[in-house]
Amino acid sequence: MHDEIVITVNGEPMRVSARSTVAAALAGEAFPCRVSVRGERRMAVCGMGACMECRAEVDGELHVRTCELLCRPGMRVRTQ
Ligand code: FES
Repeated sequence: MHDEIVITVNGEPMRVSARSTVAAALAGEAFPCRVSVRGERRMAVCGMGACMECRAEVDGELHVRTCELLCRPGMRVRTQ
């Protein structure tokens, strides 16, 4: 894929499409966006910014809705 970029997820490099949202990139690798206080794996549901299930930490900012954010080279994502 010629438009691949590398982001970091929980400290590990991940190759993703530059046209992918962070939520889609995480789902493609079966990563949850976060883990609830009960230990449940949470992933994107609505894909349009309404449900808040896709929240993750991105470049140090907490609770970012990853379904509304395109991947950028060097982006650092934390899901826990
Ligand atoms: S998937 Fe619902 S707000 Fe992102």
